[in-house]
This record gives sequence, C-alpha cells and structure tokens, in this order.
Amino acid sequence: MSDHLRETRRRRTFAIISHPDAGKTTLTEKLLLFGGAIQMAGSVKGRKAARHATSDWMALEKERGISVTSSVMQFPYEGRIVNLLDTPGHADFGEDTYRVLTAVDSALMVIDVAKGVEERTIKLMEVCRLRDTPIMSFINKLDREGKNPIDLLDEVESVLGIQCAPVTWPIGMGQRLKGVVHLITGEVHLFEPGRNFTRQDSTIFASLDDPELAKRIGEAALAEVRDELELVQGASHPFDLEAYLAGKQTPVFFGSAVNNFGVQLLLDFFVEHAPSPKPRATTGREVDPVEETFSGFVFKIQANMDPQHRDRVAFLRVCSGRFDAGMKVMQTRTGKEVKLANALTFMASDRDIVETAYPGDVIGIHNHGTISIGDSFSQGETLAFTGIPNFAPELFRRARLRDPLKLKQLQKGLAQLSEEGATQFFRPLLGNELILGAVGSLQFDVVAYRLKDEYNVDAQFDQAQIATARWVHCDDPKKLDEFKEKNIMNLALDAAGELVYLAPTRVNLQLAQERAPAVRFSATREHA
Ligand code: G4P
Repeated sequence: MSDHLRETRRRRTFAIISHPDAGKTTLTEKLLLFGGAIQMAGSVKGRKAARHATSDWMALEKERGISVTSSVMQFPYEGRIVNLLDTPGHADFGEDTYRVLTAVDSALMVIDVAKGVEERTIKLMEVCRLRDTPIMSFINKLDREGKNPIDLLDEVESVLGIQCAPVTWPIGMGQRLKGVVHLITGEVHLFEPGRNFTRQDSTIFASLDDPELAKRIGEAALAEVRDELELVQGASHPFDLEAYLAGKQTPVFFGSAVNNFGVQLLLDFFVEHAPSPKPRATTGREVDPVEETFSGFVFKIQANMDPQHRDRVAFLRVCSGRFDAGMKVMQTRTGKEVKLANALTFMASDRDIVETAYPGDVIGIHNHGTISIGDSFSQGETLAFTGIPNFAPELFRRARLRDPLKLKQLQKGLAQLSEEGATQFFRPLLGNELILGAVGSLQFDVVAYRLKDEYNVDAQFDQAQIATARWVHCDDPKKLDEFKEKNIMNLALDAAGELVYLAPTRVNLQLAQERAPAVRFSATREHA
C-alpha cells in the first residue's frame, strides 16, 4: 500500500453536533484525553480561556457564555489520525456550523438523556442529511435521571427519522447507574466515578453472565437489564455497517462524558467504523481522495485570530493528494497560482506549522483577504468543489455610522467580517446604504463589537424593512435587464458581486417570482 493510501485510510474527520449544553465541550475534552492529546481533563476550557485573553472581542463571547470561534483538533488514536472540527455551539451561529459539516466525513450526535432530541439537533441533522453524512450517537449524562432509554431511541427514530442500533446499553441510570453492556462484544463496563479514564482504569466483565458481576451490582439490577435487553432486541436494529455509512442508521452509545464513562467504547467503535475521507463532487467530476494530485476547498475563514498579526486564516480541507509546505497550487476562482507557505495545522496542543497533510486533514492558510469561503485549490487540473452553500439570511439591519467620515473603514470592516461567513453584506443598487444580513441576531452585536475593536468604527445597526433574500439568476440577458429595471428598488449586490433580491415581505417575494417566471430565485448561493 502506498503511503498516500495508508495515510488517507487512517484519517477520521468529523464534527460533533448537539444542542447547547448537551455536553459537546465535555465530550471533546474527553476524546482529546483518550487520544493522549491533553494530559488533564479541563484543558480544553483552560485553553479556550487562554486564547480569549489574547483577544478583546472575545470578551463578548465570555460575557454571553457562548463559543463564537470554532477550531480544528487533530489527535492520533489506535493507529488512526482523528480530525475533530469544532462547531460553534450557539444557535445563532448556524451558517458557520452548517459549513463545517460540509468538510467532515461523519458526525457525532450528543443527546442529553433528560432532554432528548432538541431543536438545534433537529436542524443540524437536516444538514447532515443533505449529504447522507454517517452519524454516531452518544446519549450523555446517564449519571442523572433521564428518559427511559427505549423511549429515547423511539424519539430519535421518529423525530430524526433515522434507525437506531444501540451498541452499548446502560445498566440503570442516575443514582442507580451501574455500568453499560456492549451489545456486540458482550462485555460489561462498570461505572466507577473517579475512574474509567482508560480501559486499564476500568472494571470490565466478559459478559452479563459472569458470576462476579452479580456480586458487584446485585441480582435486581441484572434482572432489570436482561428484561430491558429482551425488549430492545425485539424493537431495535442490529448494527449494520452499510446502513450506517449510508446515513440511514445511527449506532447509539450511552454514557456520562463528565465521568469519562462510556466514552472510550464510543471512540474505539468510531475509529474502527467511521468512514475515511470520501470522494467529493466538483463541477466537472468526482475527486477521489486516493488521487495523488493535491486538491482541497475552503469551508471557513477566521479573521484576526491573532490580533498581533491581524491575520486571516482560511481553513482548507484537503480532498486529494498530499499537501507539502511551500507547494504551489492554483486558486480556481482567480486562476492564480498561490504558494502555500506557512500553513497551520491544528494539533490539539496548539496551532503549529504543518509540513505535510493528507486527505481529511485541515490546514490553515494565512492570507490578507485573497481567499474566500468555497474557494477550491488544486494542482494540474482546475477543480471547483461544490456543496458549500451560502444560506439566505433571515435578519437584516442597516449599518449607521456615528462618524460619517468613517464610511471607508465601515465598508472594509463589513466586507472582511462577512468573509468569515457568519454575516452577509449587501450593497443596494440604488443609494449608498450598507445592509448586513445574518441568520441570528447575536451576530449584529458581534459585528458592532468587532468593528469598534478591530476597525475603530462606531456603527449602529437599525432595523431594515427586509423579510428575506434570494439570489437571482436568469439565462436570458434581456429578461434579466427587464427584471432589474422593474425591481431596482429591491436589488443589491452581495460581497461577491452576485445579484440579490431583498424582499420587503414574503408576499412581495411571491409576487416578484410570479411576475418574472424566467428568473430563478435561490435561497442558497453556491460559492463558485
Ligand atoms: P456544550 O458544549 O454542549 O454546550 O456542553 P458542555 O460540555 O459545556 O456541558 C454542559 C453542562 O453539562 C456542563 O455543566 C457540564 O459539566 C455538564 N455535563 C457534561 N457532561 C455531563 C455528564 O455526563 N453528566 C452531568 N451530570 N453533567 C454533564 P455546567 O454546570 O454548565 O458547566 P461546568 O461548570 O460544570 O463546566
């Protein structure tokens, strides 16, 4: 097997999807702990806090108790290389999260045992479904009382529309939590608060029939779990690798992230069965990761990660070939050759300079605004990856300056911040107003804060009479001109110069569509 093939096959690139508070951060920390990437639990939060201290605007993040930034963490585990792409947790940061999901090969869904399937999980699941992303599930907080596990699986199946295949099953819950039984190996792992850091640090019985087990947890608990398992085996599905890989079935694990419990069973199963990098669609053909020439696309931009350098980092997912420091690649959108020097890798310990990267890995490329979300890079053949959409914003505000002389800075700030993808920036064809669109209202606060902090611009955002936006296209230039003339009041250009219809009301949008049947109105824009 070539190095390239071996390196590709051992990559596991995924993200965690969950409703805020279900335990994503805690689980991330434990995964890193098992991966040996961090020495002590608590380091993720500690690291986050340290980074916050370096950047003032993140004070906002701290005040609100949310995570605005997202990062990438790489760690080795059992001969595999795991890339965990963090998704911002707050509901307001939807679009950013959605795009992270375009860069993964699978996802891990965390559900709070007491709360069950929550609203944000439903949304994220819809996004995963667009690409049939395989999903594993972790039911968290078993150390607390929650819903009956059988009812919970029913809920996942009916609300999320995906088959459940329990791989572990809890013995008791809350105060009565004794352990989990692995339904495939038959092993029973005891729940021991303060332990369970590793396999060596856990008490494991070969099966439920081990006489020592009854002595440890009592006959009553054993009888209860046996009854439950009989029901489960009748009502649920056995693990089916193909169904999982097709996104039709989710293997389910139970545990308590904060107690490390059940996490290693999940991670072991994950590295064994989760998919390695998959082929990706481009406008021309599918690109297989085993191809030896380099290609990749940018799914995220983060400005000013390091305020000392005012740098911008484009997060590029490698799709094929091998990245080598200093290599020259073609940027599809501009047709320019770019030298990828000083790329960053995201080892869990810190940002580091990367020498090589393989399909599934993410590298960070420093730039000064020359790279946009959705940009493809390739060697040799020109490739444009598809499926990295901009979503139509749902909220709109007009930017108003306290000091009108700062208009240039405002435009620059809005354009640069919108490159990160959390907000979108529109310039109406008529007049010189600047309109900002977002999927959640918190983003306006973040932008106002950052404009002040990073661009020294005091701006305010006022309500704008806009209900929704649609990108418009028309194959017939004459009809497009006609449409533009009639609707100039409601037309704007987005940051990429694409034409957008800003509808004052939904009814207005409907009428506009009916009156111009030759024009296509689209709720997403593919980055080209
Ligand atoms: P998130 O990233 O999904 O938003 O969730 P996070 O990990 O921050 O966890 C949310 C809260 O749930 C935290 O409590 C965390 O300690 C707790 N938690 C996580 N896993 C478990 C678990 O297995 N059992 C129990 N009982 N709690 C769990 P917090 O009070 O908000 O924060 P902290 O002060 O404990 O850090």
